[in-house]
Amino acid sequence: MAAFVVASRPSVLPRISATYSSVVLPAIPVTVQNRKIHHAVIPRGKGGRSSSSGIAATVFGATGFLGRYVVNRLGRMGSQIVVPHRCDQYDLMYLRPMGDLGQIIFMEWDSRNKESIKRAIAHSNVVINLVGREWETRNYKFEDVFVTIPQQIAKATREAGITKLIHVSHLNADIRSPSKYLRNKAVGEIAVRDEFPDAIIMKPSEQFGREDRFFNHFANMRWFGKAVPLIAMGKKTVKQPVHVVDVAKAIVNAIKDPDANGKTYALVGPNRYLLHDLVEYAYAVAHRPFVAYPMPRPLYHFIASFFERTPFEPWTTRDKIDRFHTTDMKFPGLPGLEDLGITPSTVEQKAIEILRRHRRFRYLEAELGETKPAKTVNI
Ligand SMILES: NC(=O)c1ccc[n+]([C@@H]2O[C@H](COP(=O)([O-])OP(=O)(O)OC[C@H]3O[C@@H](n4cnc5c(N)ncnc54)[C@H](OP(=O)(O)O)[C@@H]3O)[C@@H](O)[C@H]2O)c1
Repeated sequence: MAAFVVASRPSVLPRISATYSSVVLPAIPVTVQNRKIHHAVIPRGKGGRSSSSGIAATVFGATGFLGRYVVNRLGRMGSQIVVPHRCDQYDLMYLRPMGDLGQIIFMEWDSRNKESIKRAIAHSNVVINLVGREWETRNYKFEDVFVTIPQQIAKATREAGITKLIHVSHLNADIRSPSKYLRNKAVGEIAVRDEFPDAIIMKPSEQFGREDRFFNHFANMRWFGKAVPLIAMGKKTVKQPVHVVDVAKAIVNAIKDPDANGKTYALVGPNRYLLHDLVEYAYAVAHRPFVAYPMPRPLYHFIASFFERTPFEPWTTRDKIDRFHTTDMKFPGLPGLEDLGITPSTVEQKAIEILRRHRRFRYLEAELGETKPAKTVNI
């Protein structure tokens, strides 16, 4: 009898797999499983879009802000990606060129239907959960999005015998937080760990990038009275935002790192800023006058409660106000971006990509030169 059992889901170990050809791969007794390796996921080639990385990943929440960066990073190293979605196929067209022909597979799913979760992960060896929502809807409360769905995904992943699950939580996830979003994120982390102890949990701070809802949100505030309301002028809130590309790189590097299983990563940018200074800097880059005024929390909540009544994406919510005015926690004991081989980008390096579109026409091409970097703090 052969000394090894052929695997259907090769564990994702590119350190081994990248150096061995498909001819020698079966000689390695890597995993004990019961189906044959599909030829499409046997690592081969030099690592570009048309090679095969050996990764077959299902990315739940791929249609969101972070999702496109994760799909692109996976696609460009030659991975197979399953994109479960609930929107129209035409709304996903931008994801299609991110992978080689036939490597990105779109599949409709319903997060309440366990069978559809199972179907989405049936041929994968990595599962990534990026499902999230900044506001509650009639159909989905924060409990559903941040606890029940991640729990179901973790359960299905364990039952399918997949060894890599990456769950994206939030840096400030805390059961005592004033934000319901962050309280449920904390419960979600525990639920995922209970179902799948080896899950890799990523805790990014607020992410900035072209399509973000952080800098764009503050920059868009100029439409409402030309001034920015901040609780305590934003001088009591410290933020340490992280670039979305760094988070996507961290996810991909964690897939490749066999030691990452079971760890929790705190993903933050290199600098801490007062919220006030950060928003002031955003306005300076956008060449817009910055006028901030202090808004008491109860009044801010009262105004936000009107925005929450829209059936569409609300401009702000009471929860978002609380989340944005929560000081970013420090986790000196947790590994971070550097431990995954990533040098975090600063706000000053990337802000122009986000904020150029907020400039007036005559400043569109202006250099960043004269813009003073935001003051950093160490609290
Ligand atoms: N953005 C940040 O600054 C930030 C910071 C820290 C942590 N996070 C976390 O990182 C993850 C990704 O963030 P993101 O900014 O990329 O989120 P996003 O842009 O809001 O995207 C969320 C994704 O989840 C899907 N989704 C939401 N509710 C769903 C439901 N009920 N059923 C099925 N799919 C559902 C959305 O699908 P549809 O397109 O169909 O709606 C979308 O693909 C989230 O867990 C978020 O909480 C984000």
